Amino acid sequence: MQLVNQKVVLARRPQGMPTAEDFEFVEEPVAEPEPGQVVIEVDHLGIDAFIATTLDHDGHHGQNALQSAIIALGTGRIVASLNDDFAVDDWVFGGMGAQRYNVCGTEMLRKLDPNLAPPRSYLGVLGMTTGLTAYAGMLLVGQVKEGDTVAVSAAAGAVGTVACQLAKVRGANVIGIAGGPQKCEFLESIGCSGTIDYKNSDVASELKRLAPDGLNVFFDNVGGSILDAALDNLAMEARVVICGAISQYAHMAAVEGPSLYLRLAERNSSMRGFTVDHFTSQFPKMEADLAGWSAEGKVNLPEHIEQGLERFPDALGMLYSGGHTGKLLLKP
Ligand SMILES: NC(=O)c1ccc[n+]([C@@H]2O[C@H](COP(=O)([O-])OP(=O)(O)OC[C@H]3O[C@@H](n4cnc5c(N)ncnc54)[C@H](OP(=O)(O)O)[C@@H]3O)[C@@H](O)[C@H]2O)c1
Repeated sequence: MQLVNQKVVLARRPQGMPTAEDFEFVEEPVAEPEPGQVVIEVDHLGIDAFIATTLDHDGHHGQNALQSAIIALGTGRIVASLNDDFAVDDWVFGGMGAQRYNVCGTEMLRKLDPNLAPPRSYLGVLGMTTGLTAYAGMLLVGQVKEGDTVAVSAAAGAVGTVACQLAKVRGANVIGIAGGPQKCEFLESIGCSGTIDYKNSDVASELKRLAPDGLNVFFDNVGGSILDAALDNLAMEARVVICGAISQYAHMAAVEGPSLYLRLAERNSSMRGFTVDHFTSQFPKMEADLAGWSAEGKVNLPEHIEQGLERFPDALGMLYSGGHTGKLLLKP
């Protein structure tokens, strides 16, 4: 029986925030695999912030080609294989694209054991762009240690939720910054000792109140004015970790940098950016640690799962509007 693929393609490059008109929903027969290729039925897609940077910009994560499925990581089950190392019913993680079926080579696929953990955890707590990113940023770059005062922006999102809990694992006091009272309540429930609702309060003065001796680590997912507020509240020898800057992704050609960067000099502090792919040699240990802390209940990551491929553009919009808590996923 001929399988029918459904995919969400980029119809035009967004001008600023992506809108529904920038995407198109396409149906077509699934292509026959070539020798060495497999056909994957996509199970879950990760709605990751990096996707937003590929729509109109040719940067670190590449540029989404027009009329191509939107770049997205995902998990899935192999339904046809012309590759000796991958069999039908194997579960895999990799670049899937916003589509129901992915016909691809296997170079970038990772086999998953569904008996060890549900496959979609490899998009969440064990996922490269979530758990491993939080680990690399908080523990390896930020070098958080017992007694530190730490603040995390976009703290109730996927990376932020894990980053807050990893700082707690190391014995730090954590201040979570997020939009709205419900997200602040959630942050308290995962162990933040202080929370800041950036939509309804002044972040700089709240940081001053909650961290009178200054921040030892600031883990930034947002950039813009929140980064400046944190720079104004650093302790001596602080580490500012640039994980991302979602407030800037709708205008990547005109990113606004921090105006208070001289605080780094005044406080003998450092600001270091990273991307998780620079830590691949340490992934096995990082993954084992995360699996252990997750099993012990020290790292919990709620999931928000959108249903149906047609929800993909709206799900992407949620990254900006903050309509989810924890990891945002989509089941095609
Ligand atoms: N360095 C790396 O290797 C790497 C890898 C993966 C991800 N990242 C970065 O990690 C960050 C989080 O990504 P994610 O996939 O986990 O997304 P996420 O945190 O689950 O979702 C993004 C969150 O950002 C907040 N937000 C959106 N626009 C904002 C604004 N203008 N000001 C303040 N907050 C805003 C929203 O929460 P509120 O409701 O609180 O506003 C939203 O929930 C992103 O910056 C991403 O680029 C970096």
